[in-house]
Amino acid sequence: MKKLLLGFVICLVFMLLGALAYFGLGLAPVATSAPPMPFEQLVAGMALHARISKEAPSQAPIPADEPNLLAGARIYREQCSVCHGLSGQPETGIAKGMFPHPPQLFTGHGVTDDPPGETYWKAANGIRLTGMPGFKGSLSDTQLWQVSLMLANADKLPAAAKAAVGEPLK
Ligand code: HEC
Repeated sequence: MKKLLLGFVICLVFMLLGALAYFGLGLAPVATSAPPMPFEQLVAGMALHARISKEAPSQAPIPADEPNLLAGARIYREQCSVCHGLSGQPETGIAKGMFPHPPQLFTGHGVTDDPPGETYWKAANGIRLTGMPGFKGSLSDTQLWQVSLMLANADKLPAAAKAAVGEPLK
């Protein structure tokens, strides 16, 4: 029994030393252009999903009507598009150079498949160590819902909102 325990402790020490060496000797990726660390995406994705499923609200307190979608489109243009892109516009240099890469929300499905409460949670709280800012200190709760509802309906926006997310940034 004692030997087993000793083996376990020695194993643990080696694993710790290995991890220290990995970071201390500069082997871990730090440039945004470097590939992800082993298990980085898996572990980060698990932590994020577990937290969001605990905390994301299931119902939006405002309707996805025309005025709210238009307001959401304007907020998106100002606050989000530099990273997440505009409809039919080329990706910005900022987006291209980030790791992890910000998903281009008007290319493909975007987040139209996600419940708006999940997008609301991400926009309000941000996602640590990714460059995705939390906006709850700068946008009101209504504004956070407006932009989240707009993104949930990004594939079927009314004309005015569609125009607002389609014009190039100046
Ligand atoms: C400075 C760049 C930046 C800005 C500005 C930004 N984001 Fe992000 N966002 C990111 C990055 C990077 C990710 C990817 C995070 C990851 O890989 O987990 C992300 C992820 C997201 C996601 C998850 C997408 C998915 O496919 O699951 C949503 C939703 C989102 N952002 C919404 C917003 C909204 C809404 C705004 C504006 C209010 C905004 N973001 C502004 C960088 C940004």
